[in-house]
Amino acid sequence: MENFDRKKHWETIYTTKESEHCSWFQPTPVTSLEFIGQYGLSKSSKIIDIGGGDSFLADSLIEKGYTDITVMDISEAALERAKQRLKNKANQVKWIVGDAARFAPPEKYDLWHDRAAFHFLTDQRDVESYSITAKNALNEQGILVLGTFSENGPKKCSGIEVNRYSQEGLSKVFEQGFKKLKCVNVDHPTPFNTTQNFTFCSFQRLTN
Ligand SMILES: C[S@@+](CC[C@H](N)C(=O)[O-])C[C@H]1O[C@@H](n2cnc3c(N)ncnc32)[C@H](O)[C@@H]1O
Repeated sequence: MENFDRKKHWETIYTTKESEHCSWFQPTPVTSLEFIGQYGLSKSSKIIDIGGGDSFLADSLIEKGYTDITVMDISEAALERAKQRLKNKANQVKWIVGDAARFAPPEKYDLWHDRAAFHFLTDQRDVESYSITAKNALNEQGILVLGTFSENGPKKCSGIEVNRYSQEGLSKVFEQGFKKLKCVNVDHPTPFNTTQNFTFCSFQRLTN
């Protein structure tokens, strides 16, 4: 999609649609929390949620006692919505408006999480840029947790095309500098009583 303005697209979504009417709405990010809970992270570990939007992951992480959480998203309106919901707890989160394909992370992280944002990068150069950024932004031994539509998932989301990934396909993108830890496929029940099949994988950043 040439000349497609993805920031404009997402600002429009978040200023016109309620969270509960979005297919990705998930009151408890079960799979993400299961992955994040597996790696013995300390509560002070640096965690970033890429394309976090107004997801409830930050709420759940605060609830569990994590103290260094960053949420990054291309849409300012999405982050504003999350801040409004979190009220005074919003101060416990660092918020960054940015594009994951052109992102210069301000610090290094112990865990990089992304549910349903990476798959919107359909230009191969953006995919490569993302994987290099994630690698450079993670501390050695840091963990990358990624959830994308699977090869059996929808071809589009919010009206735009996505790249769908099998477990093998996603592992291939992150084979340079990472060790694969685990992949699963899970069905996400949407608010419209349909399901979307996701591939979730975790990778560990190798030491240089
Ligand atoms: C399907 S929603 C998922 C939101 C959230 N991760 C969740 O699980 O509820 C995709 C999110 O990715 C964000 N996004 C899309 N493209 C992006 C990009 N290039 N950089 C950063 N965020 C992006 C959108 O604004 C939106 O919040």
